[in-house]
Amino acid sequence: MANVIAGISSHLPERIVTNDELSQALDTSHEWIFTRTGIEKRHIAATNEFSSDLGITAAMVALGKAGVAPKDVDAIIVSTTTADRRFPSCACRIQGEIGAARAFAFDINAACAGFIYGLAVADSMMNSMRLKNVLLVAAETLTKFVDWSDRATCVLFGDGAGAFVLQTVDDPAAGGIIATKLYSDGTEAKYNSILSHGGPQNGNRGYITMVGRAVFKYAIDCMASSMNEILEENKMTIDDIDWIIPHQANKRILESMCKIRDFPIEKLIVTTQEHANTSSASIPLALSQAMADGKVKSGDTLLFTAMGAGLVWGASIVRI
Ligand code: UT7
Repeated sequence: MANVIAGISSHLPERIVTNDELSQALDTSHEWIFTRTGIEKRHIAATNEFSSDLGITAAMVALGKAGVAPKDVDAIIVSTTTADRRFPSCACRIQGEIGAARAFAFDINAACAGFIYGLAVADSMMNSMRLKNVLLVAAETLTKFVDWSDRATCVLFGDGAGAFVLQTVDDPAAGGIIATKLYSDGTEAKYNSILSHGGPQNGNRGYITMVGRAVFKYAIDCMASSMNEILEENKMTIDDIDWIIPHQANKRILESMCKIRDFPIEKLIVTTQEHANTSSASIPLALSQAMADGKVKSGDTLLFTAMGAGLVWGASIVRI
């Protein structure tokens, strides 16, 4: 048996905001944003467009590509840090809207590492509950949770969604999800290094704050070590990997992460310039873009890694 990726898609809001546009209302510049982060632009959801709306479109396209009817979906798992509401879940809204009447549905929140957490949850539920078709969606609208007067954070984020249709097949050599590895560290300094202040603790929707320099360093260390460990545990080396697709927070983080472990930079997929940081949606967005560009092809072995608020981080190896 193997849990393969039968369909992949992504969806972005229509509105694109460039660095120049941001610098009209904020004390910043294209030069600062681009040289520090690699970001050139980001997509921003409309006022009445929420994470589940982006997820619905991504989900329908992925199901179409997989040739799976909504009625044949067994489970919907949605990774989001920016759900439309506290409850019900985005997953339930998506289930209702796409007509996946047989599926059970729930959200998970593992911040920017949510897609890798979602892959691990889907993989283990497919094995333990004998599920045939699972829809994994990552849908985020971080721009609704930034303080637009804080130049140190608001320039970093964008909105978007991605979806995988995961399917159990009999052939154990069929690839799909090969391995996943998850980590968390909620000790005080790390817990407080990147967070959203919203919720019952202070009674409002809240906004993101971040100790940028510390998070920069944690991101490099966490992602580089998780990639090393997952390769070692699975008796693989970087030579067995065709492409590294990390969470797209900052181009400089991604390049440093490869540099400190001697991972070849030519294998790195970077889409930070196009999408900015879309939290857990960034890996499926980057993968979709790399497939559209003709870089990533069917049969390629991919190494995903991500780190986010919590701290949470992890890595996954998949063959598509
Ligand atoms: O997805 C979760 C993971 N998140 C991340 O991975 C983000 C990690 N951190 C980073 O990517 C970087 O730390 C940032 C891009 C956020 C910041 O870059 P930095 O090189 O660490 O800059 P800094 O925070 O140390 O700030 C340097 C200067 C400061 O001015 P002074 O105090 O030196 O005068 C800031 O006020 O840059 C200033 N600054 C800006 N200037 C123009 C901060 N934001 C901006 C801005 N435009 N947008």
